[in-house]
Amino acid sequence: MKKLGLIALLFFSLSLLMFAGCERKIVNEDAGDDLAFTSCFTCHGDDGLLLAAKGEWQNSVHASGNNVDYTNRGGTDCTKCHDHQGFIDYLETSEVDPPYSNVSAIHCFTCHAPHTNGNLSLRTTAAYTLENGDTFDHGNGNLCANCHHSRYSVDNITDNIEVSTYWGPHHGPQGDLLTASNGYEFDGYTYTTSTHASVVRDACAGCHMGQPQAHDGYKIGGHSFNMYDSESGSDLSALCEECHASADSYDFTADADYDHDGNVEGYQTEILGLTDSLRTLLLSAGVLDSTDHPVSQTIANEETAGALFNFLLVHEDRSHGIHNFNYIKDLLQSSIEYLD
Ligand code: HEC
Ligand code: HEC
Ligand code: HEC
Ligand code: HEC
Ligand code: HEC
Ligand code: HEC
Repeated sequence: MKKLGLIALLFFSLSLLMFAGCERKIVNEDAGDDLAFTSCFTCHGDDGLLLAAKGEWQNSVHASGNNVDYTNRGGTDCTKCHDHQGFIDYLETSEVDPPYSNVSAIHCFTCHAPHTNGNLSLRTTAAYTLENGDTFDHGNGNLCANCHHSRYSVDNITDNIEVSTYWGPHHGPQGDLLTASNGYEFDGYTYTTSTHASVVRDACAGCHMGQPQAHDGYKIGGHSFNMYDSESGSDLSALCEECHASADSYDFTADADYDHDGNVEGYQTEILGLTDSLRTLLLSAGVLDSTDHPVSQTIANEETAGALFNFLLVHEDRSHGIHNFNYIKDLLQSSIEYLD
């Protein structure tokens, strides 16, 4: 439907061109307002405004559409984050209506509505309410939090909780950890937080879309959303140097031996060390399997389930501590202390 509309729009514009001198306005049916035909060239001009974004986006995981086919298999619950139309419907009506006949990856029109708005503003920058009721409110990063958040609220964890292999936050709980929310917090332990959510401009966007690297084959930064290119090994650590003078990589030297292995290593290596210790304890408690999935069962006490949840949260976040070093370190250390 959308595509047909756009093609009709293009034909209509072209026919207007042929009758040059006539009314140079076209009606945008979606918005009901006028989008001047001449304004097409503010974006579709010879200066190539959209080119870099397009080149980068093609190298993004969003563009890959790897998991878009889950959309119709898993019903409403997967569609709102994995499919273009699902997300649009969800934003507009808070509901989705699969199966969709045209599943498509996350692309330009998922995040922008240029032909409705006449500009490249984002479809939403509203604060996002996480599953546990906490608010994520960090500028353009709010768009990302709509999809990159835990699907499970920590408040649901109780004694005698039934867990399946798929129990947990789901992939992508970055919104929660960045803003120090939704971890299982043990009584008597004080949880601290790092400040990236507020000191980095637009949070997620300030890092992942920082420093578009057109000269580097569009592989990192900008609309690739990638922090790292595994082929060339290039990264965006120059961006960290603005605030951390010694950051020659993401894994720059820590100020303490957090994982107690006798060496002061990089911050990420320290977090991986703590994650390994927690993994070992969860394995021997019989709640985690060797593929990092929960073992289906009823877990008698809340705290053990909480420690398992914290492991999954940090593991699925995949920043190895960078999103919120203090909170992530505290979740791991308190879980380890409890199980030990
Ligand atoms: C709240 C948004 C949201 C919902 C709902 C959701 N996902 Fe995801 N999913 C994500 C995000 C974000 C990622 C990528 C996270 C990352 O790479 O860290 C992802 C990643 C995945 C991956 C890739 C994992 C990998 O290791 O590459 C699979 C598979 C997946 N989701 C399946 C599903 C299925 C099946 C459902 C429905 C039952 C579902 N998702 C519902 C947001 C969601
Ligand atoms: C996942 C969401 C997402 C997708 C997909 C996306 N964008 Fe963006 N786009 C953003 C965000 C967020 C910003 C603002 C970046 C910032 O704050 O640094 C932006 C900014 C831009 C800008 C700069 C706007 C300005 O006013 O300076 C352009 C141009 C742009 N996008 C074009 C595109 C094009 C072309 C595509 C498709 C190839 C695309 N975008 C796909 C999220 C997205
Ligand atoms: C505010 C920026 C902006 C304006 C103004 C704009 N477009 Fe676009 N247009 C985009 C973006 C972003 C895309 C997606 C990236 C691409 O395909 O280049 C796009 C894509 C298209 C496409 C390809 C559609 C598709 O499904 O891939 C057509 C056709 C098009 N625009 C026509 C127009 C016409 C006609 C006008 C003027 C009435 C117009 N555009 C005005 C930003 C704009
Ligand atoms: C419409 C939902 C949605 C929005 C909005 C969104 N993402 Fe994603 N993102 C996903 C899904 C789903 C995946 C996994 C796609 C797959 O594996 O098929 C993903 C993947 C990613 C990845 C790649 C992870 C990997 O496997 O390497 C990064 C990085 C990322 N997103 C960052 C962002 C940032 C930054 C923003 C905001 C500018 C954003 N995303 C906005 C849904 C979304
Ligand atoms: C302070 C900068 C910073 C901020 C802010 C930030 N990230 Fe990250 N993110 C990183 C770094 C660094 C990595 C780890 C890259 C590595 O070690 O390979 C990462 C990893 C990820 C990954 C795993 C895939 C990958 O590229 O390695 C996803 C997905 C992701 N971040 C999404 C987000 C989302 C969504 C937000 C906002 C809620 C966000 N990030 C905020 C810096 C940041
Ligand atoms: C705009 C400034 C800014 C940028 C950019 C930034 N950080 Fe930070 N970072 C901070 C601040 C402020 C803290 C909190 C320091 C504190 O509370 O002790 C922090 C904390 C950290 C910590 C925890 C250890 C510590 O020093 O407290 C790590 C690790 C870290 N940042 C890594 C990174 C990485 C990797 C990047 C680049 C992807 C990055 N940061 C980008 C400002 C920034």
